[in-house]
Amino acid sequence: MIIAVTGTPGVGKTTVSKLLSKRLGYEYVGVKEFAVERDIGEKVGDEIEIDIDELAEKMVEEFKGKNVVIDGHLSHFVPSDLVVVLRVHPRLVAERLKDRGYSRKKLAENVEAELIDVILVEALEENERVIEVDTTGKTPEEVVDEIIGLIERGVKKRVGIVDWSEAYDEVLPYLNLGGE
Ligand SMILES: Nc1ncnc2c1ncn2[C@@H]1O[C@H](COP(=O)(O)OP(=O)(O)OP(=O)(O)O)[C@@H](O)[C@H]1O
Ligand SMILES: [Mg+2]
Repeated sequence: MIIAVTGTPGVGKTTVSKLLSKRLGYEYVGVKEFAVERDIGEKVGDEIEIDIDELAEKMVEEFKGKNVVIDGHLSHFVPSDLVVVLRVHPRLVAERLKDRGYSRKKLAENVEAELIDVILVEALEENERVIEVDTTGKTPEEVVDEIIGLIERGVKKRVGIVDWSEAYDEVLPYLNLGGE
């Protein structure tokens, strides 16, 4: 089975994906590393812009019939058996990305994306089987237990479990209202 773990930057994808793959005995694959190793995408400044169609094609080719956990905020564009969308309170996105030294603009973009469910909506447009997990106040182990529990119960879809509208005022100082 191919499991895609996606979500806003800083939500905890890499932490959870590594643990989940270990617990299930699956291979762990990071989208960025995969793309760099195979020369998919272009370097734009110090980031790489990944060609999503090429990524999906190459991953399907390599992982068909295998058990893998794919980690990355583009993983929901890769055909998979299950998409796990990790969520976290937007305040924590802000705090984590601030600690990483992200620019105000990138901070604002990502806090806003979490606030208005950008990745969830994209994932639902691309996939049938989408499971959303709120990681707020949970340990990575608890998050992985929840994911495995949902898989074992055969849950096909579980979305709409968070509503960050109440968080708006709190994260307002991080937002870049009005653009540039
Ligand atoms: N319940 C949790 N699940 C996952 N990570 C958590 C959790 N609680 C706290 N964290 C912390 O949040 C941070 C998340 O970082 P991580 O690199 O896993 O995020 P990411 O989504 O992979 O980010 P990026 O999109 O930049 O790759 C880590 O410092 C991790 O220890
Ligand atoms: Mg990561």
